[in-house]
Amino acid sequence: MIDIDRRAFIAGLGGAAVVAGMTPEAKADALENFLAASLATGAAAASATARAPTVAELEAQIPTRNYRRGVGNGMVNKDGGNVTLLPPLPARPTLADFIRLRLQSNAEHCLQSARLARLKNLDEDIVFACLVHDLSLSLMRAEHGFWSAQMFEPYVSEKVTFAIRHHATLRFFPDKEAGYEYPELYRTMFGSDYLPPPHQQEEYRRVRAHRWYLAPRLVTVNDLYSFEPGVKVSVDDFEDVIGRHFRQPKEGLGFDGTPVAHFWRTAANPDSPL
Ligand SMILES: [Fe+2]
Ligand SMILES: [Fe+2]
Repeated sequence: MIDIDRRAFIAGLGGAAVVAGMTPEAKADALENFLAASLATGAAAASATARAPTVAELEAQIPTRNYRRGVGNGMVNKDGGNVTLLPPLPARPTLADFIRLRLQSNAEHCLQSARLARLKNLDEDIVFACLVHDLSLSLMRAEHGFWSAQMFEPYVSEKVTFAIRHHATLRFFPDKEAGYEYPELYRTMFGSDYLPPPHQQEEYRRVRAHRWYLAPRLVTVNDLYSFEPGVKVSVDDFEDVIGRHFRQPKEGLGFDGTPVAHFWRTAANPDSPL
């Protein structure tokens, strides 16, 4: 087992209070990045002067893993252990069923975001966008704003789709006025000298000038890794919001013949060999 410098790790994330409020998923990601950074710089244990890795250092780590970083959280056990058997889904699964039984790896983070948005009395469509913005991360991490938006597009308003699709790119672009700063965690995840690629810069410019800019921006503002410690949020608390902002197909998600039904079937049965 690698002996990590807890003090440096916690300080790098912004202190004990921040760490205490992080979701297990965020903690796991942060720890993975911290260890990777330590290994990349050739140190068995990170020192108190640990710094975020550079883009080149992160790239050098790619061939040291048996999975790619973009793989969905539900598709691989990144701790090196085995995956678990999944519980059965109802014959006509609903969004709430998927949140409870399949997309859990990021469900807690999403529920916390939605809770935060609701506490701020934001419009309910924004609360809903927060509730689902990262759910596709169970399937695929790379390009997750677009994956999530596509999964939800047939069932939600155009504005909610817009909010989900572009939140991921807006995460790279601070907006002090809106109360959003560049996340410290991204320095370790993407590299201290990372610059979003040209297509993402372009996406940002387009979204910034759009009349719905505030919708994805508000998702980022509530997309924090630090929450009130010990607060447990249940999907039951959002059944009413889901009912008003998600057109649940009567056949069940995955069986309604939409162009995205296969996303939901993949989430339902990620153990299918083909
Ligand atoms: Fe996200
Ligand atoms: Fe998020």
